[in-house]
Amino acid sequence: MSFCVAIDGPAAAGKGTISKAVAAHFGFAHLDTGLLYRAVGAKVLLGMDPAMAASSLRPDDLAATDLRTPEVAQSASRVAVIPEVRAALVRFQQEFAAQDTGAVLDGRDIGTVICPDADVKLFVTASAEVRANRRFDELSAKGMAVTKAQVLADVKERDARDTDRAEAPLRPAKDAVLIDTSDLSIKDAVAAAIAAISKAQA
Ligand code: CDP
Ligand code: CDP
Repeated sequence: MSFCVAIDGPAAAGKGTISKAVAAHFGFAHLDTGLLYRAVGAKVLLGMDPAMAASSLRPDDLAATDLRTPEVAQSASRVAVIPEVRAALVRFQQEFAAQDTGAVLDGRDIGTVICPDADVKLFVTASAEVRANRRFDELSAKGMAVTKAQVLADVKERDARDTDRAEAPLRPAKDAVLIDTSDLSIKDAVAAAIAAISKAQA
């Protein structure tokens, strides 16, 4: 029987970190759905039509090395408002969610649109300043020349676009468990997620 964990939240809240740890703990498959939008966004930066890029996306595209840049993140959030782009990516995500091993998917609309019947829904958040500082540390460690102010502006712009769009806006599902990681270590955030999932499995 499949078991699906939906993890949503704004940029750099800790969704991916929690998802990976949860997948390892429970033996679930993990899909970072942000990578789908980033891969489409990267193709659009190269001149491709967004709907075409989404409908022709291949697993190999998700392994592209340069998807974690602020430029690609912005392009991802711009293509993510386009209904045809979102529609082209639904089936792959829903098939991934239904696999027998159990699955954890993280993104913006997993608990609301992709897996409205998920066994567990988590909404992971943190203050914009905390999230921007974390993302700044990650980008600086990779040698990217960014300032904290730029990263904060980037995160806020994406949050606003993701929240205000008509199609699949970022918002917690009614039955989501809220995890605010502003003052949590990674260890404590992961423990909160594992506790919520264990409770749903019992
Ligand atoms: O997937 P998402 O963009 O929501 O965030 P992430 O990539 O999991 O986390 C962004 C950064 O914050 C990573 O460098 C994590 O190590 C860090 N983080 C943290 O410092 N404390 C947490 N409780 C969660 C994540
Ligand atoms: O890692 P971070 O949280 O910064 O971003 P991401 O999860 O890789 O997502 C990049 C962009 O893709 C987001 O800003 C959203 O616009 C879009 N996205 C979406 O619309 N729906 C999803 N399920 C996942 C990502």
